[in-house]
Amino acid sequence: PKLTIVNRAGEESTIEAQTGLSVMENIRDAGFDELLALCGGCCSCATCHIQIDADWTDVVGGPNGDEDDLLDSSDHRNAASRLSCQVEMTDALDGLKVIIAPED
Ligand code: FES
Repeated sequence: PKLTIVNRAGEESTIEAQTGLSVMENIRDAGFDELLALCGGCCSCATCHIQIDADWTDVVGGPNGDEDDLLDSSDHRNAASRLSCQVEMTDALDGLKVIIAPED
């Protein structure tokens, strides 16, 4: 499935994502160094914060409980915020577009 990533400079890149991996792992594997993902995907660092494009927020859904608490620590949280390690890439998300959130 295609995954479009908008970096902090506003530049869009589309990659061929792998299903079964998280959106975070897909972004990291594509070489984006803006997404620190310091905890490696165990939902404890919040440095993999992304915002879901408006066309996709309903499909992707909202954060789970721990993720929700962690997102509250960000100054850049909005209604489209997710931690990308908690979103699994699936074929249903083909065409997904995400924006790397500003650094806290
Ligand atoms: Fe640490 Fe997602 S990689 S919370």
